[in-house]
Amino acid sequence: MIRMTKMLDKLLQFVRSIESLAGDYWLHINSSSPVYFEGKRGKNQDAFDFETISHGSIMRTIRMTKPGPNDVVYVLGCGKGRAACHFARCRVRKVVGVELSDSLADIARANAVTLKRPHAPIEIMCADATLVEIGDGTVIFMFNPFGEKTMRNVLGNVEKTHKANQKPLTIIYVNPVFAHVFDEARWLEKTFDYKRFTGQRTVIYRNCHMLSRTGKS
Ligand SMILES: C[S@@+](CC[C@H](N)C(=O)[O-])C[C@H]1O[C@@H](n2cnc3c(N)ncnc32)[C@H](O)[C@@H]1O
Repeated sequence: MIRMTKMLDKLLQFVRSIESLAGDYWLHINSSSPVYFEGKRGKNQDAFDFETISHGSIMRTIRMTKPGPNDVVYVLGCGKGRAACHFARCRVRKVVGVELSDSLADIARANAVTLKRPHAPIEIMCADATLVEIGDGTVIFMFNPFGEKTMRNVLGNVEKTHKANQKPLTIIYVNPVFAHVFDEARWLEKTFDYKRFTGQRTVIYRNCHMLSRTGKS
């Protein structure tokens, strides 16, 4: 039984790496990689190491949220820019990737240049997500990038600006280890909570202002 589980694990890993390389080839980018860590932990010392998310997971979140021409998408902890590249192939206004590591931010910038058929400009910022002004953002994408303290700081900043400017906001959080931080925020409403066949969970939140405007609540 243990041997069988190990074999299945290896098979799943193999399928994942093929998916990763094939997706990169299709997009003309190079974002596949094993776990990588440069040494920076961020202001709150709680950065997680770089790890890629599958192309399929990103595309599913895009299908579910359907970003449009007025959307400005922020990918917090963008790594090599895979998710930023996928969003830039949608008809959105702009995509901003925020990454703590200089070397990963450089790779993300290079991927933004080679990306096949982008529809939106991509800006990559090398910065700590707690220090970035996300006021123009209407979609925020995260793949378990950092710990609870940074998550609370980021959400606090986003709440302040979004309550002031009353813009619609969608937050996509893949592998949501600190989902409770968002569940506690009364100005947000969870609109999706699903698991892929791989077991990976994703939660999607919208601000109540947007829900009342679109008649979804
Ligand atoms: C799990 S990876 C995300 C992978 C990426 N979203 C992708 O699609 O391939 C987490 C990333 O978040 C970055 N990160 C961690 N803490 C950060 C912070 N405070 N500000 C900005 N980026 C951060 C890490 O350097 C790492 O590249």
